[in-house]
Amino acid sequence: MRIAGFKIEEWMNKYSNDAVFDLTTTCISPLSINELPFSKEIFDVKLGYGDIEGSLRLKNAIKSLYTNQETNNITVTHGAIGANQLVFLSLLERGDEVVSVVPAYQQHYSIPEALGCGVKLYFLKEENNWLPDFEELDKAITSKTKLLCINNPNNPTGAVIPDDMLNEIVKIAERKNVWILSDEVYRGLNLTGNPYSQSIADIYEKGISVGSMSKTYSLPGLRVGWIAGRADLINEINHQRQYNTISVSILDDYFASVALENRDFIAERNFKIMRQGRSILKNWLEENIRYRCVLPSGGTTVLLKYNFDIPSRDFCLNLQKKTGVALLPGETMEMEGYVRLGYCADNLKPALERLSGYY
Ligand SMILES: Cc1ncc(COP(=O)(O)O)c(C=O)c1O
Repeated sequence: MRIAGFKIEEWMNKYSNDAVFDLTTTCISPLSINELPFSKEIFDVKLGYGDIEGSLRLKNAIKSLYTNQETNNITVTHGAIGANQLVFLSLLERGDEVVSVVPAYQQHYSIPEALGCGVKLYFLKEENNWLPDFEELDKAITSKTKLLCINNPNNPTGAVIPDDMLNEIVKIAERKNVWILSDEVYRGLNLTGNPYSQSIADIYEKGISVGSMSKTYSLPGLRVGWIAGRADLINEINHQRQYNTISVSILDDYFASVALENRDFIAERNFKIMRQGRSILKNWLEENIRYRCVLPSGGTTVLLKYNFDIPSRDFCLNLQKKTGVALLPGETMEMEGYVRLGYCADNLKPALERLSGYY
């Protein structure tokens, strides 16, 4: 299968490691094993494959994040990246039509394209606070559409689709008999109201929720994600999954279970970092009028508009060379003229000070 280069990953692999201030990140400072309340029994666990589709303990912990799922509605994957890929491989065939709401993770359109699907990009707009317009979305989805892909909360914009809006999107999909894949890796990180938005899997029969330990739970090194959806679809996914996963590491499975069972302390820590980052960013924007952004409602990133006549790649390359600050060019997300900024990054304040002095 030939597939387009994954622009964000390519950029980050090339430039993020050398950054002095890495604002390309989407993670909230990863936790160490010592910060988790694990038991020493883990040292006696035999390092076999473990439970092939994820341990019951882990599936029960994942189930507790939803209102309407059972363990047979859940499968454990190699991160959300593995989860998204399995959904596409299981659901799509050459010639199917897919609508992907962008900006989003490139998997949501490049994998369907590589599978030979017709992919339509529906672009969110800054003037709508990066939220979908129902009429436009309704038009983009046709009677031929098989799958709608959304990312809620959204990377890169930091927008959260309010629950009543999500219900409207479900009505459109229901009317047109369309599956919805909702990439919910930032679910649990809403800055106002309930930290957890409704999950698409809980409110729509053809809703597929993808989750992960990487962002909300600050454990990207575990490489644990999951899919929650209709049992018949999960069976199909498990059929595909035999070919590329076997199981996730038994250690990852264990530590993910411990973290999810103790998620309140992770949330407390992460919301402190998020609120602090949002406030630093807000103050900085007030004094730096050549930049603007819709402040985040959730997630870990914003899409920053810069008022300089320079392509986003050049902007980021020059910035990093002169100041050591790394940002992600909008061009890698089909959003030329913008850059992605991780507002939960370590050293946000000194990094923004350097950004102020850049031009
Ligand atoms: C929207 C989105 N989906 C999926 C992923 C992949 O996450 P994971 O680390 O769980 O594979 C990312 C990572 O940045 C992401 O932002």
